[in-house]
Amino acid sequence: MSGKTATLNLPDGKAVELPVIVGSEQEPSVDIRSLRDATGYVTLDSGYMNTGAVQSAITYLDGEKGILRYRGYPIEELAEHSTFVETSYLLINGKLPSRTELDAFSKQLTYHSLIHEDMRHFFEGYPPTSHPMAVLSSMVTSMSAYYPDCLDRSAPMDLHITRLLSKVRTIAGFSYKKSIGQPVMYPRNALSFCANFLHMMFAVPAEPYEPDPVLVKALNQLLILHADHEQNCSTSTVRMVGSSGANVYAAVAAGILALWGPLHGGANQAVIEMLEEIQKTGGDGHAFINDVKNKKNNSRLMGFGHRVYKSYDPRAKILKKMTDEVLAHLGIKDPLLDIAKALEEVALHDDYFIEKKLYPNVDFYSGILYRAMGIPTDMFTVMFAIGRLPGWIAHWKEMVTDPKSKIARPRQIYTGETTRSYLPIEQR
Ligand code: CMC
Repeated sequence: MSGKTATLNLPDGKAVELPVIVGSEQEPSVDIRSLRDATGYVTLDSGYMNTGAVQSAITYLDGEKGILRYRGYPIEELAEHSTFVETSYLLINGKLPSRTELDAFSKQLTYHSLIHEDMRHFFEGYPPTSHPMAVLSSMVTSMSAYYPDCLDRSAPMDLHITRLLSKVRTIAGFSYKKSIGQPVMYPRNALSFCANFLHMMFAVPAEPYEPDPVLVKALNQLLILHADHEQNCSTSTVRMVGSSGANVYAAVAAGILALWGPLHGGANQAVIEMLEEIQKTGGDGHAFINDVKNKKNNSRLMGFGHRVYKSYDPRAKILKKMTDEVLAHLGIKDPLLDIAKALEEVALHDDYFIEKKLYPNVDFYSGILYRAMGIPTDMFTVMFAIGRLPGWIAHWKEMVTDPKSKIARPRQIYTGETTRSYLPIEQR
């Protein structure tokens, strides 16, 4: 509370004093929770364009200035110096771990990396054409059947959190192996979190496999960049589902499904498909940009624009540099990267994009990087899900440990018919 109030004058002569709440970064807000009881009015904000649904201490984002911080730490510093495991600990527990805490957390993740052997057979039931996001969400829901103590919300949740973080990576690796008809590769305890994922994806039984340290570092950075983004569509979904008392696996599975859409995490796959289409038609992107501006077939420049960022997404800046470095290390020349850079150059100087404040977002370059690492296009959103997992868990934990949290239940403005009498079918 700031002690200040805002006065809202309503058309029927009523006036109401509403408390002003100021966040730790001085973001002012008007607390309208008492509005309906006091006046009968509700607020309308479709798509939550301007609604603070929660007070949260996890992530700070300033879309005008291009600032992103997890628990106060700038994303640039975390991407440069941290690991995904350490950043996960930070998000979930609110502080950077000591050496002992980090070792214990890493050890837990290592020892919970296997999925129940029975669950391995689930993969056989899916058709080879299954989208890996469909498989991932169902597998995560199934985990609640294998660990039914998750249904008791008063029981400790640490083990479920560890299982989720570790096993989602294994599920992703196994589902890829299944989709290409190779035997699954079990995790190796001697490997770090990200190295182990690369091992499960790319090792084959016939040959020794040592993950490339440059790719391990790049994967750590990619996952850190995706690890949280405050109240986005999937995180809000996790909170919404969790607010009903549903277990953590159910809430996270719902988040995975929300992430799948092309306007959210599915955009990384859509970017590559867009770049491939431009390449196929032999263009340099100018014609495509014109189609986007003319809203031809409702096309959008995928990987551009963001609800909150109205300047360059800081994650995209880091990713662009990382993409250049990894491709140079691997000796790959990807023509899609040239098309992406050309599109960016055109868009950043075009009035349509300038006026609407549309800049590259995290998904614009991530797909090119995943491609260079050998990850197939339809798994890009799964990679986003692995990265976003600690954020979803941190928000779920923040919600369930807040004694004041309530079931999410928005209001509506009803626009349908007013009361009318039922007519028997013969009289209609
Ligand atoms: N290309 C062309 N025009 C665009 C784009 C785009 N990528 N994004 C927004 N616009 C236009 C849109 O047509 C609208 O124009 P008008 O005012 O003439 O109707 C205006 O900009 C505002 O768009 P909006 O859809 O009302 O804005 P929003 O805040 O609801 O949408 C967005 C945000 C991310 C869904 C949108 O920018 C978009 O569809 N981008 C492409 C998909 C994408 O890259 N998504 C990944 C987002 S970052 C990862 C994540 O966190 O999910």
